[in-house]
Amino acid sequence: MANLFAGVGTSHVPVIGAMMDHKKTNDPQWKKLFDGYEPVRQWMKKEKPDVIIMVYNDHASAFTLDINPTFAIGLSEEFHPADEGYGPRKVPVVKGHPKLAWHITEQLILNEFDITMVNNIPVDHGLTVPLSIACGEVDEWPCQVIPLCVNVIQYPQPTGNRCFNLGKEIRKAVDSFDEDLKVVIFGTGGMSHQLQGERAGLVNADFDIKFLDDLTQDVDRLVNIKHVEYLRESGSEGAELVMWMIMRGALDDDVEETYRDYFVPASNTGAGIIVLENKE
Ligand code: DHB
Ligand code: FE
Repeated sequence: MANLFAGVGTSHVPVIGAMMDHKKTNDPQWKKLFDGYEPVRQWMKKEKPDVIIMVYNDHASAFTLDINPTFAIGLSEEFHPADEGYGPRKVPVVKGHPKLAWHITEQLILNEFDITMVNNIPVDHGLTVPLSIACGEVDEWPCQVIPLCVNVIQYPQPTGNRCFNLGKEIRKAVDSFDEDLKVVIFGTGGMSHQLQGERAGLVNADFDIKFLDDLTQDVDRLVNIKHVEYLRESGSEGAELVMWMIMRGALDDDVEETYRDYFVPASNTGAGIIVLENKE
């Protein structure tokens, strides 16, 4: 059977991908951030997951205000890097896992958790930067990836609680997939940042570190963080953190934090990364 054994939380700051693409990861300003990713890359090489379920958000690359699903799942064989204004990133094409993606879709919808089915979708920095962070510079991504896209751009975004419950349903679906696959789920985006308005540049390291702590120590508190609290404490884009609740909901209640790093500021953002593993 498929085994969802671990979760990774990570920010998706676009310039992190740009620094990799322009071979600037050893620049003094950036080296410490990239050194902090190395243990996660080693962990990925050791664990060799077959599939990543990548919970991410699109930034008006695939979905515009014309159509904006709250939750969408990518069912295709391949997903191409999006052109976000500077040409698509020259990273490998993302290979999907249609069979598992269809199984998750079927289980979710028949269990009354509706999700939008998407076939052809370009993937922007929300998906490719976390992959680059976890896998480094590669000719091919080392595993298949199921994009699970969440609207955190257009009000009203889903609540943290709804996201957590979606994670639980995804876990049930993966557990019932009749093929031996090692599956990791990523929650991406965040941590605290605000890109516009009077408070542009806001970072709240205390909020971020407490958030990382409570992924193991007080999940109930995180599940119940309301949007206004995200806005007030972590800035308008800090609300991307609801996507981490999908990741957390898909794991066991009892998890071990096996790695974390926190770096501030990466561009405008508090950049966090964490690895959580089921204890069983
Ligand atoms: C930045 C962070 C984001 O999450 C994003 O989507 C775009 C930019 C930033 O900090 O620059
Ligand atoms: Fe973002």
